[in-house]
Amino acid sequence: MKGLFITFEGIEGSGKSTQMVLLGQKLSERGLPILLSREPGGPPISEAIRSLLLDPQRGEMLPQTELLLYSASRAQHTGELILPALKEGRVVLCDRYYDSTFAYQGAARSQDMDFIRLLTAFATFNAVPDLTFLIDLPVSEGLARITSRQLDRLEQEDISFHEQVRAQYLDLARAHAGRFVVLDGSLSREAIHAQVLTHVLSHLGEPSE
Ligand code: TMP
Repeated sequence: MKGLFITFEGIEGSGKSTQMVLLGQKLSERGLPILLSREPGGPPISEAIRSLLLDPQRGEMLPQTELLLYSASRAQHTGELILPALKEGRVVLCDRYYDSTFAYQGAARSQDMDFIRLLTAFATFNAVPDLTFLIDLPVSEGLARITSRQLDRLEQEDISFHEQVRAQYLDLARAHAGRFVVLDGSLSREAIHAQVLTHVLSHLGEPSE
């Protein structure tokens, strides 16, 4: 049996992490084997790379270094956790995956998209999510939601950076319409969760709620 690979994407403050956790709880209650993870992160090596990437105290990081570190984190994560879990038949839920690299490093940091495509294929062993939820909302709304917490290195970027991220996500969703589901992030947590659940249960061939 092969598992199902589901990713959650969106700008800062979109609520994607909350949605992933809510979905994970629902699937666990149904007795489905799941793996919850995040990028950058996952196994210890990738979590160590995450600290390097997000620490605002470490000074200026070159876009090239940033792209390679996100990809390095992803290679370890995919090889060590994601692919084995899928092979075991688990439903893998991941908070961000390679679409984030196209949006942040490709669009917002202007790194070469063709190179990112090659690097992504290498770092993921060609793994492609079965389903990607893009929780979309205006940048001003997303950023307003995260003002209360300590901002990491990328969250500290200006509004035009985040506008480019959002626009690229919407382009990706149009280009890969079979994989993406775009949801309105300004709806309530419960309303978004209901939509996420409906899509996932139908993918799994499970009865709806
Ligand atoms: P998080 O805030 O969702 O945990 O994500 C960490 C930050 O890393 C967020 O600002 C988005 C950024 N990011 C990239 O720039 N490229 C990537 O490939 C990934 C996975 C995340």
